[in-house]
Amino acid sequence: MEDSLSELGTLARTAGAEVVGSMVQRLRHPDVTTYIGKGRAQELCDTEKQLHLDLVIFDDELSPSQQRNLEKLLNARVLDRTALILDIFAQHARTREGRLQVELAQLEYRLPRLAGRGVDLSRQSGGSRSASAGAAGAGGAIGVRGPGETKLEIDRRRIRSRISELREEIEGVREQRKIHRMQRTAQSMPVVAVVGYTNAGKSTLFNALTEAEVVAENKLFATLDPTTRHVLLPNNQEALLTDTVGFIQKLPTKLIASFRATLEEVIDADMLLEVVDVSHENAIEQSETVSDVLGELEARDKPRVTALNKIDLLDDASELDTTLYPNAVPISALQKTGLDALREKIAGALAASMEALRVLVPFDKSELVELFHRRGHVEHEEHMPTGTLLVGRIPRSLKGYFVAYKA
Ligand code: GTP
Repeated sequence: MEDSLSELGTLARTAGAEVVGSMVQRLRHPDVTTYIGKGRAQELCDTEKQLHLDLVIFDDELSPSQQRNLEKLLNARVLDRTALILDIFAQHARTREGRLQVELAQLEYRLPRLAGRGVDLSRQSGGSRSASAGAAGAGGAIGVRGPGETKLEIDRRRIRSRISELREEIEGVREQRKIHRMQRTAQSMPVVAVVGYTNAGKSTLFNALTEAEVVAENKLFATLDPTTRHVLLPNNQEALLTDTVGFIQKLPTKLIASFRATLEEVIDADMLLEVVDVSHENAIEQSETVSDVLGELEARDKPRVTALNKIDLLDDASELDTTLYPNAVPISALQKTGLDALREKIAGALAASMEALRVLVPFDKSELVELFHRRGHVEHEEHMPTGTLLVGRIPRSLKGYFVAYKA
């Protein structure tokens, strides 16, 4: 629970808030009206008076009425973990699809919370309170900003029609992506999805492996939209590396569902490259969370290589137990160490997921020999009187090109 609370603190800071305190209560059941018990709520109220809090964030999901009651009682904005995560998503969505998804998720979250609070909220989000204390960043009040800058005053009907509009738009974008993915399959490049707990160093590693410019920030959720780049593996093998959103504890299942399109990259990938921050004291738990989310996406059984990242922060990297993770390679994405070994491991895992093939390619089909080298893994090559004999492994999707020449 303490880890979860300290993570909530990091999330709050990522959203631009300054954390001034936290409290915990042990209860058999959450209170129906105020979530925490009456006494605790009163205590919180007194704290609010002393410290002039702008924002109180609960680490669990609040019902719309609990949230309303607490706001009335505390005279401060009240958010739960979901709303906070949505706010951070809103700040970090980069592509059109990401922004559409965030807006949809925010509207779906807000709709049941709209009743009877329009006036209150517009006063609060008008921001004299939050602005004066400077708790929320320049982007507006935490929890109410978003790509569409949708004001809470718009009535339910307009929200509903916007929701269906968004769904249609997202469907359109999704179709587009399907086409891109099909084109990619036609090129038969194996796809490696980079997964990992938020802040593990996925973007940094993605950059280091592809020399691309993807923002790496020491904040959670710097990456919301997948970015795909080309990566060169040993033996001139090629693959596509795709960066994904950071995974996190208690990411509500509903949110996972709304970001499914983003995570489709993971579902479709040939293999996964999991990044673990081994300098983090909860590295193992974080990796378990990642496995749980992968399980929900039915992607747990894909071939996986684990990059044990941030070894530069360890006192003694040689003590690292690499057997705890599948196909593990210790690296530092920041200092670019261990990357060659990692590339070897990725190539190895891809090769293992490929199919063995022995073909005799006629000389006038030299493009197939080249294709085998580029996308597959050649173990033996010999020039015969009638063509080139190739023995090795190729991605399953490429098999069709070679069936006629099996030897
Ligand atoms: P999300 O987008 O939140 O999921 O994060 P991410 O997993 O993409 O992490 P990112 O690459 O943004 O890195 C997070 C922080 O860790 C940044 O401050 C990086 O500079 C730092 N970092 C990444 N790799 C290393 C490393 O090998 N060593 C050290 N010391 N820091 C690293």
